[in-house]
Amino acid sequence: MTNEKVREAAAKLFPGGVNSPVRSFRSVGGAPVPLARGSGAHVFDVEGRSYIDYVAAFGPLLLGHANPAVVAAIEAAAHTGTAFGALTPGEVELGRRVVEATGLERVRFVNSGTEATMTAIRLARGATGRDIVVKFDGCYHGHSDGLLVSAGSGIATMGLSDSAGVPAAIAGLTAVLPYNDPEALRRWFTDHPDDTAAVIVESAAANMGLVPPSPAFLAALQVLPRAYGALLIADEVITGFRMRYGLSGLLPAADLVCLGKIIGGGLPVGAFGGRSELMELIAPAGPVYQAGTLSGNPLVMAAGAAMLDQLANGAPYRRAEDLARHFEHGLVAAVRRAEAPASVVRMGSMLTLFFRSEAPTNYQQARESDTAMFGRFHHGMLERGIMLPPSQFETWFVSSAHTEADIDATVNAAHEAIYEAFRHGGER
Ligand SMILES: Cc1ncc(COP(=O)(O)O)c(C=O)c1O
Repeated sequence: MTNEKVREAAAKLFPGGVNSPVRSFRSVGGAPVPLARGSGAHVFDVEGRSYIDYVAAFGPLLLGHANPAVVAAIEAAAHTGTAFGALTPGEVELGRRVVEATGLERVRFVNSGTEATMTAIRLARGATGRDIVVKFDGCYHGHSDGLLVSAGSGIATMGLSDSAGVPAAIAGLTAVLPYNDPEALRRWFTDHPDDTAAVIVESAAANMGLVPPSPAFLAALQVLPRAYGALLIADEVITGFRMRYGLSGLLPAADLVCLGKIIGGGLPVGAFGGRSELMELIAPAGPVYQAGTLSGNPLVMAAGAAMLDQLANGAPYRRAEDLARHFEHGLVAAVRRAEAPASVVRMGSMLTLFFRSEAPTNYQQARESDTAMFGRFHHGMLERGIMLPPSQFETWFVSSAHTEADIDATVNAAHEAIYEAFRHGGER
C-alpha cells in the first residue's frame, strides 16, 4: 500500500477524498498524507515515514497518540459492551470528573463539539424566549446551520452564511461582530436591547489561527450580555482542559459552557453544562429537546476518564507548556534570522506562526496573512518530517509526549523552511 493508492481509493469514496475538509490540504496545496498510526508525539504514514505531529487530532491529544492508559481503558470497556442505550456507570465517572474540575452544576454528554454548541444555543433560546444569536467573525463553533455564518466586514452585519444549503432565514438569526471589539458588542446591545438570546464565543479564538482575547473584550463579554438579559456561551471545545485542568478561566461569568476534544481522550465527544436551573430545561427534565443514540458511549467515557486522571495533577500541562515556550522562542529566532514578515502567538501549549508581521487581533487581520507563504512553509516542514495543521488558520498543539529533542528538531526544520518560504518563494 502506498500513500497515493490510499488517496486514489479515498477520492472515489469520499467528497474531496476526505471525511472533513481541512484534511484535504487544499489550503496549503499538495496531497494529503494518509496516516496509518501514531505513537506519542509521532505519526507514521502508510509508507512508514514518521513525522513529529502538532495536529494532535486538532486538539484532543494532550498526552500524545495511543496513550497507554487511554488505550487500556478503551480496551477494557470494549470487552464489557460498546453501547447500551441506557444509563451506565462510566457516564457518572466522567461526569463527576468534569463537574468537579469545571464547577458546572450539570452537564450533558453529546458526540461532538458541533452538537454541544448547537444544543447550547437551543437551550439559550428556550430559556430566554428570544431568537437572535451573536457570534464573532472567525470563531468556529462547529457546522450547525446557524453557526456557519461569518461577516464580510468589521461592521456588525446580520449574517450571510458561509455554506450553501443554509436557509437565509436561519443565517439571518445570527449576528456577526468583530472579535476583540468591546465597542461593537456595546453598540449591538444598545441598538438591539431585547432580541438577543445568547452571545457565543471561543474563550480564546483558535480557529483563525490562535488569537488571544484582549482583557477589555473579556470584560465586556462578562458584563454586557447579562445586562441585556442574554446568556453568555463560552465555547471551550478547544480551550477546556487544554489551558489547565478544567475550564480556561477566561470567562468565569459564562452561563453555559461547551466542551469536547480532550474530555473524550481522542474519541468522539462533546458536552455542555451550566447552572442546574438552566440545564434542567433540557429534556426529559424540561421542554428543550436533545437526544443521542451513542451519547455517553462507554468507550468514550472510559477514554475520557483515563485521560483526565492523568491530567488532574497538572504535570502534563506544565510539561507541554514548557515545551511550547521553547518552541515559541525557537520560532521567533527563526523568523528574525530570515527577516520574514511573520509573528508567533502562543497561549499555554497552543501556538500559531502567522505570516503577517504583527500578530493579528481579529479575523480581518488574520486573513491578511500570506497564505501562499504559509503553504510553502508547510510543505518545507513536511519534507523535513514535521506535521503541522494544513492551514494558516489552524492552531498547533504541543503535547506532553513531545520531547526537547522533538522541539529542537522542529525548530531546526523551521529555520530552513521559513527562510525558504520567504526568500525562495518564487522558485518552488
Ligand atoms: C471551538 C470549537 N467549537 C466547536 C467545534 C466543533 O467540534 P466538532 O468538530 O467535534 O463538531 C470545534 C472544532 O474544531 C472547535 O474548535
